[in-house]
Amino acid sequence: ARKRKESMLAAHDLVAKLYHHLLLNTDHGAQARNYLLNRQMQLATIEEFGLGYSPDSWDFITQRLAKRGFSLSLMEEAGLLSQKDRSSRPFDRFRGRVMFPIHNSQGQVVAFGARTLGDDQPKYLNSPETPLFNKSHLLFNLHRARTQIRKQQEAVLFEGYVDVISAWQAGVHNGIASLGTSLTEQQARIIRRNTETVILCYDSDQAGIEAAFKGADLLVAAGCTVKVAQMPQGMDPDDYIQQYGGERFKQEILLNAASLTAYRLQVIRSRHTLTDETERMKFVHEALEEISRLPSAVERDHYLRQISEEFHLSLDAMKQEQKKIFKQQK
Ligand code: GTP
Ligand code: MN
Ligand code: MN
Ligand code: MN
Ligand code: MN
Repeated sequence: ARKRKESMLAAHDLVAKLYHHLLLNTDHGAQARNYLLNRQMQLATIEEFGLGYSPDSWDFITQRLAKRGFSLSLMEEAGLLSQKDRSSRPFDRFRGRVMFPIHNSQGQVVAFGARTLGDDQPKYLNSPETPLFNKSHLLFNLHRARTQIRKQQEAVLFEGYVDVISAWQAGVHNGIASLGTSLTEQQARIIRRNTETVILCYDSDQAGIEAAFKGADLLVAAGCTVKVAQMPQGMDPDDYIQQYGGERFKQEILLNAASLTAYRLQVIRSRHTLTDETERMKFVHEALEEISRLPSAVERDHYLRQISEEFHLSLDAMKQEQKKIFKQQK
């Protein structure tokens, strides 16, 4: 089993280098090179992340691997090749895509994320689960970001590879991402081992908001303090950096990250029309439910005061109501 894993690792290392070479130095890679340049990716960033290009061929990688003596059925198990069925000939799994190598915690390439240059589906094709690659345990870029995460005692959690890379290019070197799936309990625990504070920086769309709520719960359960950075509606971190630049991203988005409670209150608020009195009271009630969940009396007091001032409600009444809700929640 050890031999098989070593062979899979060696193959990933070889293939990542090939894809990278093809992207930078060959005619095959020209279109992908332009694609990345159009997305404002600098050469130094492409080098740092080892980005590549898989040629639009059924057997380019297959041939190379065969020539180097790799077992093709093992390469299929490693996720580099595909097969129609068990008895048919293996072929290149990734064709005509920009390749994002995914590393394990030791910095070895164990998988790829592969993006189409156009708008065909799927947009991203990822390596399957393999003996090397357990999606729910790995975090994109953790091996590179770990030192900074520990030093700053803060990690920024993104949705997409490109967001991590774009932020890195802007000087944010503590960014990581889960791998196309929602955050898992194991990933939350791994993050907690490196830092207490996490800034969630997800896409500003419905899916991103829901993912942020779920991710936040898991991180809190793992013992993290969660902040939420918010992009303007419809943007993701990479879009924002493209449009406004990295400095503004750091100053306006990351430094202004809200506490999880402030963020939740804001989302609850956005669901109510506050000019309407009934709606306003509904908002206050839901806000109290949220505040009741806070374990710290100081924090509860802080948010209760905020709301009582904004809506001209007596702080005493708010406190009484909150305590009532707290009892019902138990
Ligand atoms: P760009 O369009 O390249 O900027 O991608 P993005 O990083 O903005 O991706 P998006 O917000 O659409 O999705 C976030 C992450 O979800 C990606 O980095 C992928 O890991 C994953 N993802 C997106 N689309 C697909 C898909 O079609 N299939 C799979 N398996 N994963 C996807
Ligand atoms: Mn992106
Ligand atoms: Mn999205
Ligand atoms: Mn996105
Ligand atoms: Mn994007």
